[in-house]
Amino acid sequence: MNKRKPFFYDVTLRDGNQALKKPWNTKQKKIIFDYLIELGVNGVEVGFSGSSPMDFEACQYLSTVAPEHVVISGLARAIDKDILKVAEALKEAPKPRIHTFIALSPFNMQYVLKKSPEDVRKIAVDAVGYAKELMGQKGEVQFSVEHFGDCSENLSFVIDSLKEVVNAGAKIVNLPNTVERTRPFEFINMIKAVKEELPDDTIISVHCHNDLGMATATTVESYFAGATQLECCLNGLGERAGNTNFYEVVTSLYNCDVESTVDMSKIYEIAVTVAEMSGVPIYEKSPLIGPDALAHRSGIHQDGALKTKGMKKGAYRPIEPSLIGRDDEEHLGLTSQSGKTAIYEIINKAGYPITIEEAIRISPAIKNKAEQIGELPLNTILGIYVNEILEVKGPFVFNKFKRLEDDNKEAYFLDFDHNNKTYQIECYGDGPLESCLNGLAELGFPQKLLHYEQLALAEDEKGASADAMSIIHFEDKNGDTIVCRGKDHSTTKANVKAIFNGLNLINK
Ligand code: KIV
Ligand code: ZN
Repeated sequence: MNKRKPFFYDVTLRDGNQALKKPWNTKQKKIIFDYLIELGVNGVEVGFSGSSPMDFEACQYLSTVAPEHVVISGLARAIDKDILKVAEALKEAPKPRIHTFIALSPFNMQYVLKKSPEDVRKIAVDAVGYAKELMGQKGEVQFSVEHFGDCSENLSFVIDSLKEVVNAGAKIVNLPNTVERTRPFEFINMIKAVKEELPDDTIISVHCHNDLGMATATTVESYFAGATQLECCLNGLGERAGNTNFYEVVTSLYNCDVESTVDMSKIYEIAVTVAEMSGVPIYEKSPLIGPDALAHRSGIHQDGALKTKGMKKGAYRPIEPSLIGRDDEEHLGLTSQSGKTAIYEIINKAGYPITIEEAIRISPAIKNKAEQIGELPLNTILGIYVNEILEVKGPFVFNKFKRLEDDNKEAYFLDFDHNNKTYQIECYGDGPLESCLNGLAELGFPQKLLHYEQLALAEDEKGASADAMSIIHFEDKNGDTIVCRGKDHSTTKANVKAIFNGLNLINK
């Protein structure tokens, strides 16, 4: 077990917010802020106070409601007026932090800043010095090398500059992959190189964007390479393809037995709310939180997932859904690729008893329908169950069965068709089941009864009285056992329906 706890520094309210089509106001930011605190993050970058009066107000307000243990940070360019604005906005925060930044990549210094490396270094050092002066003993300073991922050619210049920046008062050095051009492996080697050269008490932080979908990998591996502060966004919001997704990093580290302060059970509810509030919907296949992310459709996957339910390392699933607060009932989608296990699970869960043998029996009808329409809705699945198990079509058609007034013995009237010929007979025996079987045997349709039981089905949701279900095992023409069911309000009729369903199954 790795003992170093990651420091989760959330940038949803800054990097996430700045990329929204309609950035959040103070009230909206407060909702997200409360979620972040509930989630157990260690630091929150509440905004870019110099960007607009609305954002200044939000930073100021959130500082007043921040809990004692959470670092509250505000972003500032390496410009005095921005830095001063952050200091003003965070005055009330119990643990304030000024986060200032400038790019040190050759490309950016030449074409965007249009300054020499020495000039840029001086700006960085001066900015950090000023921020430290404003923070005094109460707060801390974070410095970011914007475009750090593009600094492989001038890494020694960057490292020398960072030494000066740390001397000037920066306690946290953040290394962003501002545009994801650098492979995780290269990026991690750069992180290691910086860490080796800076004083041991400097906190190394990473901040990755997800332009090529590798931000989680880079962030997680950076932690193992020595970065302690991990900058992430809820729902992977952020500029362009977003910032590193918070949930993915937390879960990856959890799967590696790394402890953190995060309460993972809050993740799903928060993800859904953030999607609503940001107007950025959760993609169907989004890891962990996507509607489809924990669904199983292929028979092999469904079987494996069900056999390993409740295990930490379950087959075909990254986590137990309840870990992140999702419904424990994983979604099993019935398609033409699905197998007997899913049919069995879905139908049983809907309150209709079925055995695995019956699931195998009705599987062709299910697959046939799914081939036509794709994933089957529950009603369609239950409709097939009714047709294939409770109202089996075949040469026999049951019409009527009722008790006759006879003082001397138990007698019943049975009316049915066989191959369009109607039979109306009286039959006798010990109870309706035996009487019906006796009558059929006399007409040349004998059945070998192996087992009989009655079930009371649950009341429906409107509280209507429960149906009875008769379950009969007959021996089929090959000597195998076949399960036959009948359902009716009357137990007598449920018995007779089970017999006729059995006759049709055997004589199909
Ligand atoms: O992506 C980036 O480089 C940033 C910095 C301001 C930290 O957001
Ligand atoms: Zn960023």
